[in-house]
Amino acid sequence: MKKIAAVERMKAAAGEIKTQGRILGFVPTMGYLHEGHLSLVRESLKKADATVVSIFVNPLQFGPREDFRRYPRDPERDEALLEEAGVDILFHPADLDMVPDGFRTTVEVSGLQDKLCGRSRPGHFKGVATVVLKLFNIVRPDYAFFGQKDAQQAIILRRMTKDLDLDTKIEIRPIVREEDGLALSSRNMYLNPEERRAALVLFRSLKKAHAMWAAGEREAGSIRGEMLRLIGSEPLARVDYVEIVDSDTLETVDRINGKTLVAVAVLIGNTRLIDNTILGGKGEHP
Ligand code: PAJ
Repeated sequence: MKKIAAVERMKAAAGEIKTQGRILGFVPTMGYLHEGHLSLVRESLKKADATVVSIFVNPLQFGPREDFRRYPRDPERDEALLEEAGVDILFHPADLDMVPDGFRTTVEVSGLQDKLCGRSRPGHFKGVATVVLKLFNIVRPDYAFFGQKDAQQAIILRRMTKDLDLDTKIEIRPIVREEDGLALSSRNMYLNPEERRAALVLFRSLKKAHAMWAAGEREAGSIRGEMLRLIGSEPLARVDYVEIVDSDTLETVDRINGKTLVAVAVLIGNTRLIDNTILGGKGEHP
């Protein structure tokens, strides 16, 4: 595995792969890798001839009171995991190369960026879209792989790619969970044992939504009400949002007809966790 930090070197290495006519797959991450990330890496290795994984804890997507500084980092372990997986290039740019002094440009996907997580994390998706477009420009991948875990992020990046006629195809892959249902997340390491147990309430609320839908319930309001009740019964949990929305526009729906995204964000102690599921579609993909 090649390790590249410099933007220009990354551009050259990606360009070389493309001139050889090889299909290039890309998995952008913020590191502290877990099975969720690695599932995307394996998908890329399967679909593409060469795979680039980036590790960059993007300062643009953290709010001033968020966890940028204490976000978990373990570059040695990440490198070993990617090496073992058979990744071709690890791109790990420095903060100042990605966001140099004088950096002024932002990408906004208006409307979509302000809903759900955007309400409690203003500026977050602007930071994500900006850095992902920048990474796409450096790597120029044929395919880029993202997790359904961050459903809103995936929807926003699909929209950006379409709106700006980018050549990269966005591939979205299912949520990887612990055996008991908790969605894998780098932030799960913030949870103490009691909070870890309480965190299951997210998955339980989504299972409840599924069960009600499977039993024929189509009123979003009653499903949402039951989910709120269930989360409310967990003393360590505080709801940020429970939303039932159209999986393209993120507009709230009253009745569940087409493919519908059920998304939750819950604070467990001080840790904000998100999870989601799709109702009425063929699976988890929005
Ligand atoms: P990060 O949180 O490191 O996630 C990198 C990718 O892994 C994202 O596409 C995310 O959806 C996916 N992922 C995380 N947990 C997952 C799980 N349990 N199952 C499946 N996929 C999972 O998302 C980001 O980084 C950043 O916003 C980034 C896109 C890199 C831009 O900075």
